[in-house]
Amino acid sequence: MVVTSQTAPPLPELTSRPRHVAIIMDGNGRWANGRGLGRSEGHRAGAEAIRPVIERLAEHGVEVLTLFGFSTENWGRPRAEVQTILRLGGEFIDRYLEELHQRGVQLRHLGDPERLPGVLQKKVRQAVERTAHNDRMIVNLAFNYGGRADIVSAVQRLIAEGVPAERVTEEAITARLATAGLPEPDLLIRTGGERRVSNFLVWQSSYSEYYFTDRQWPDFDAAAVDDALLEYAQRRRRFGRVLDDGSRDPGSDESGAND
Ligand code: IPE
Ligand code: IPE
Ligand code: MG
Repeated sequence: MVVTSQTAPPLPELTSRPRHVAIIMDGNGRWANGRGLGRSEGHRAGAEAIRPVIERLAEHGVEVLTLFGFSTENWGRPRAEVQTILRLGGEFIDRYLEELHQRGVQLRHLGDPERLPGVLQKKVRQAVERTAHNDRMIVNLAFNYGGRADIVSAVQRLIAEGVPAERVTEEAITARLATAGLPEPDLLIRTGGERRVSNFLVWQSSYSEYYFTDRQWPDFDAAAVDDALLEYAQRRRRFGRVLDDGSRDPGSDESGAND
C-alpha cells in the first residue's frame, strides 16, 4: 500500500488519468551548474527526486511508470560521469528496494543489461526478482535503453523465431519489445526544457501525449506531477479519428481512450 507523503499537497481529482506515464528525467547537469555544483551533484539530486515521484503517481492510480535513467547514447559522456550515473543507479536500488517492495511496486528493467557493470547487473536482477509478484504499480527502469535498439532486438527475435514476412505485423513487433504486455505510454513527460525524444520509447510513444516542462529533474516534485496529470486530463486524444460526437474540437466530450 502506498502511503500519502506528509509534505505533498492534497491529491487533486482527475477527470481522466494515464495508465502509463513515461518520464525523460533530464536536466540534472544544468540543475547543478545553476547552483555552482558539479554534474555529479546534479545526478545525486536527480536520484533523490525519483522516489517521491513514484509515490505520487501511485497515489494517482497510475499503473505503469517508465523512467529514462541512462540512454544507449549516454555512454558517449565522459567516463567519470558515466561511472557516477551507473553507481547512483546501484545505490538507488540499495537504498529503496525494500521500501518500494513494501509498497507493492514491481520493478522491471528496460534495456540491454549486458553492457552494465556486473555488480549493477546483479542488483538489477535481484530487484526484479524480489518485486516480481507485486501488483500495485510497475516501474520500468530504462537503463542502457534505446528506442531504436529496442526495435532492432524485437526484429532480431522475429527472425530468430522464423516468423515469415507476412506475419511481421505491428502487433508482432510490439509483443517483442521490452514493454511487451504493457499499455503504451499515455503521457510522456520530459523535464529540463528540451523538446525532443532522444531515442526514448520511439515505437511505443506514437500516440503518447507529450508534456514538456522547463523544470529540471531534481526539482520535479509531487506538485509537478499533479500539474502534468492535470494538463493530461485536459487533452483530447483522437488517435487519428473523430470523437464520438463527430467533432474534432478540444472542448467536446472525452473520448474515453484511457479506460
Ligand atoms: C539527465 O540529466 C540524466 C541523464 C541523462 C543520465 P543530464 O545529465 O542530461 O542533465 P543536462 O541535460 O546536462 O542538464
Ligand atoms: C535523455 O537525456 C536521456 C535521459 C534522460 C536518460 P539526454 O540529456 O541524454 O538527451 P539529449 O542529449 O539532450 O538529447
Ligand atoms: Mg540532458
